[in-house]
Amino acid sequence: MAHKIALLGFGVVGQGLAEILLEKEMELAEKEGFAAKVVAVSDLLKGSLYHPDGLDIKRLLDVVQETGKLAGYPDQDGLVRGWNSFETIRQSNADTIVEMTYTDVKTGQPAIDHCRAAFESGKHVVMSNKGPVSLAYRELSELARRNGVRWCFEGTVMSGTPTLRMPLTTLAGNEIGEVRGILNGTTNYMLTKMEEGMSYYEALAEAQALGFAEADPTSDVEGYDAQYKLTILANIVMGMPIGRDEVEREGITHLTHADIAWAKENGKRWKLLAKAAKKDGKLIAKVGLEALPLTDPLASVQGAQNAITYACDLAGPITIIGAGAGKKETGFSILIDLLNISRNQL
Ligand code: HSE
Repeated sequence: MAHKIALLGFGVVGQGLAEILLEKEMELAEKEGFAAKVVAVSDLLKGSLYHPDGLDIKRLLDVVQETGKLAGYPDQDGLVRGWNSFETIRQSNADTIVEMTYTDVKTGQPAIDHCRAAFESGKHVVMSNKGPVSLAYRELSELARRNGVRWCFEGTVMSGTPTLRMPLTTLAGNEIGEVRGILNGTTNYMLTKMEEGMSYYEALAEAQALGFAEADPTSDVEGYDAQYKLTILANIVMGMPIGRDEVEREGITHLTHADIAWAKENGKRWKLLAKAAKKDGKLIAKVGLEALPLTDPLASVQGAQNAITYACDLAGPITIIGAGAGKKETGFSILIDLLNISRNQL
């Protein structure tokens, strides 16, 4: 039976997911026995559509990419237009709500309220926004559990690069005593370019033009984005229920060209590191600049790439390097969550 999904938000990530579902339809059906049926799309600016038997994904993409709106989608019997996000959550026949709205990362809204409404309606939620997970993990995971539904958010840290589910499944049995990572692509890109001689503002403008920076880049350059991601890792991978404010934070705004020259002369490279380590039953978590020796695997991570090292007691240190953002990569993170819900796996 097809997995019925409702898309809340049809921007870059939503369209990325729709393109993947279209492109991989046959392969996913043959290899995974997976079929997704998009029954609803609800977007604050583009409008909304619902059909209990499913919408045509190609037409959705064509109409939005040509007109910027959903209004031009052809009429048909049973098609409902104009539902808001809560009507879509509560009244659609979707099994899973894919939450991709424009959500304020500081307050986690409206995604937190969307999660509450979905769980109370017995629907799973998949999302890549880090606001709700880093702010309200305990409340929302408990609400999902009580209602017998799943809440998946693999894409909140390093988009489609496997960082959350992988240590809990493939590395199960290890105690992960420390995680160390480069979790923000914008600042890593800027540090790389500044080392090549570019100014701070030129480097930031390039990162913005390439589309990795948050709408308000303060979140990137002052370390909030990495702070939120480290909070998620601490809660999920290390099982330490900390809040965002318990993670110390420093950004890159005060780094000077003299600091960069000093690192170069000393065979080092500045990185904005996110680090959480267990010590005497407590967690010490910090985002801050460190000059790493070039022999450290994280020092070789250049440009907008992200990376993470898990210190495992049995398997030793394991480092994963990959994308931390992107339309296809984040679309993939949503797909893998949907696949895991369909397979009834973690
Ligand atoms: N602004 C983020 C970054 C995007 O630069 O890594 C992904 O969360």
